[in-house]
Amino acid sequence: MRSSWYGKPSLVFSHRPPFNWLVFGVVSIFVLIVLLGCSSSSAFDSVTASVGHNIYSSYGRLHEQAVNDYLQLKNLGANHVNDFGLCGKERENYVPCYNVSANLLAGFKDGEEFDRHCELSRDQRHCLIRSPKDYKIPLTWPSGRDVIWSGNVKLSKDQFLSSGTMTKRLMLLEENQIAFHSDDGMIVDGIKDYSHQIAEMIGLGSDIEFRQAGVRNILDVGCGFGSFSAHLLSLNLMAVCMAAYESTGSQVQLALERGLPAIIGNFIARQLPFPSLSYDMVHCTQCGILWDDKDGMFLIEVDRVLKPGGYFILTSPKSRHQGSSVGSKRGSISTPSEEITQKLCWNLLAEQEETFVWQKTVDSQCYASRRQGIPLCNGEDGQSYYRPLAQCISGTTSKHWIPIQNRSSGSLTSAELEVHGINPEDFSEDLDFWRSALRNYWSLLSPLIFSDHPKRPGDEDPIPPYNMVRNVMDMNAHYGGLNAALLEAGKSAWVMNVVPTGERNTLPFILDQGFAGVLHNWCEPFPTYPRTYDMLHAKGLLSHLASEKCSMVDLVFEMDRILRPEGWVIISDNIGPIERVRTLVTQLRWEARVIDLQNGSDQRLLVCQKPFVRK
Ligand SMILES: *[C@@H]1O[C@H](CO)[C@@H](O)[C@H](O)[C@H]1NC(C)=O
Ligand SMILES: *[C@@H]1O[C@H](CO)[C@@H](O)[C@H](O)[C@H]1NC(C)=O
Ligand SMILES: *[C@@H]1O[C@H](CO)[C@@H](O)[C@H](O)[C@H]1NC(C)=O
Repeated sequence: MRSSWYGKPSLVFSHRPPFNWLVFGVVSIFVLIVLLGCSSSSAFDSVTASVGHNIYSSYGRLHEQAVNDYLQLKNLGANHVNDFGLCGKERENYVPCYNVSANLLAGFKDGEEFDRHCELSRDQRHCLIRSPKDYKIPLTWPSGRDVIWSGNVKLSKDQFLSSGTMTKRLMLLEENQIAFHSDDGMIVDGIKDYSHQIAEMIGLGSDIEFRQAGVRNILDVGCGFGSFSAHLLSLNLMAVCMAAYESTGSQVQLALERGLPAIIGNFIARQLPFPSLSYDMVHCTQCGILWDDKDGMFLIEVDRVLKPGGYFILTSPKSRHQGSSVGSKRGSISTPSEEITQKLCWNLLAEQEETFVWQKTVDSQCYASRRQGIPLCNGEDGQSYYRPLAQCISGTTSKHWIPIQNRSSGSLTSAELEVHGINPEDFSEDLDFWRSALRNYWSLLSPLIFSDHPKRPGDEDPIPPYNMVRNVMDMNAHYGGLNAALLEAGKSAWVMNVVPTGERNTLPFILDQGFAGVLHNWCEPFPTYPRTYDMLHAKGLLSHLASEKCSMVDLVFEMDRILRPEGWVIISDNIGPIERVRTLVTQLRWEARVIDLQNGSDQRLLVCQKPFVRK
């Protein structure tokens, strides 16, 4: 009966202070006057900053602001250590854990200085990442896929005019906009032909047949500006861009700005945050990785994440000195040697011009048959979070060892659910729950919810652009039910399904449904650029994190960092943690409202919107 949890329309908004607005306004003004008379303190500075200089765009309401300031004041008064001001301009594109100079100082070298080292960027001071001066709210999907505001991303004109890879050449600059030519545009951009070529090399008539051939998800390593991913998405495939952290001209930032799935990640010293046998295809076009390095460890890692029968596509100039920054420095080769692909039991299906297509074996016995082969890893692998790259073959004894060609092309069969240990009844009940939850969530995504006559769950959808929601992150995704409901409802959103470490590892199931997903420890920052998600959703995450003993303040600041201005947050949890977070987020200047589901439980929804603070 979970689907009826919004049944009763009456709601209690515990957001309000328990006395009337007029009295409240007078009180808060009085408090301000008293403070103005006092000697200055850090709390005082922070309050005047938020009252004096920031103009809240589009829906700022004075009395709401007074409430926020009052709460902020009250809390800062009680606790002088907090100073939630804006960070400096140098942090506009700040990604924690990727401080190369700190990594070098700590002795990391040979590429490891570009890796993620969270232990070296523990932030003492909490500040809010500000938007660039010329930041503009992105255009809605699908316009935003083809045109972005150049002020929103860190990219200079020179950078993209000089860059020459196939995927990068497609950009044009128009005043303050960057335009990408989409599939259906007038210009034949080469991407379609390329995709078609890959399909043919696999033995398909055209790229429309990828899905029938068992391909649902693709890991696109080093995705340029995301145009290949954009094309694959239009074919109903989930392509996730993954590239190393770049301080300027980031591929991941650009892809996300276009509303395409992307995450920071790299092949250096550790395994990718995905389980074994996760992807149907791994693709690299001049992605700058030296595949023969480290005795083929990177290829072994590709093999680990590939499903049996899956494909590795590599497009790379055969001249063995190519122009990628890492490659040219070390003069190494970027196409794997036959020796190693042999040991990996990969079959070279085709080679055309600069493109190679290998297929992973479907036979788990194959590895043992190779002379001087690579040993099998010991035991089933659990969570591949922060595990060092391994010189062994994974997954051969897994119950997930199922060739992609053997999978049903439609929705998951009960046999497939069983492989994941999921009871079909639980699964369909879960989906029912999310269908109804989504309907209600969606109707709440409007600034109206914060007004005097707030929207209630079930009210009609707000008019665009207020509900511009494309990049969604489900911070505690479980089976990926929110993602499934969004798809079913035909919303033009994609979801980064995050499975927190320490929770049941449902990521293989999420990926098998053709969704994007990743393992992540929420006690650490998420590997993405600031302002990259339109909506963050977290059901039960706060309760989970309470047992992990990490800082809720850190978490909320991290959410603020990755949320774009005017982006939404929906948190669903027990009343205790919800109240604590509500107090915190009002200090971060978010609009926030607690919704009592009135179903007799102590579950609450916290709906928030991050303001657009221009400075
Ligand atoms: C009330 O709704 C919440 C929604 O998150 C649900 O988890 C809970 O089980 C419901 N409680 C009852 C008693 O129906
Ligand atoms: C990176 O590390 C260096 C050296 O520890 C430090 O001076 C600098 O402030 C750090 N940068 C950021 C953005 O945290
Ligand atoms: C996959 O399908 C082939 C042909 O239908 C069959 O021979 C093989 O046993 C199947 N493999 C698995 C693991 O189900």
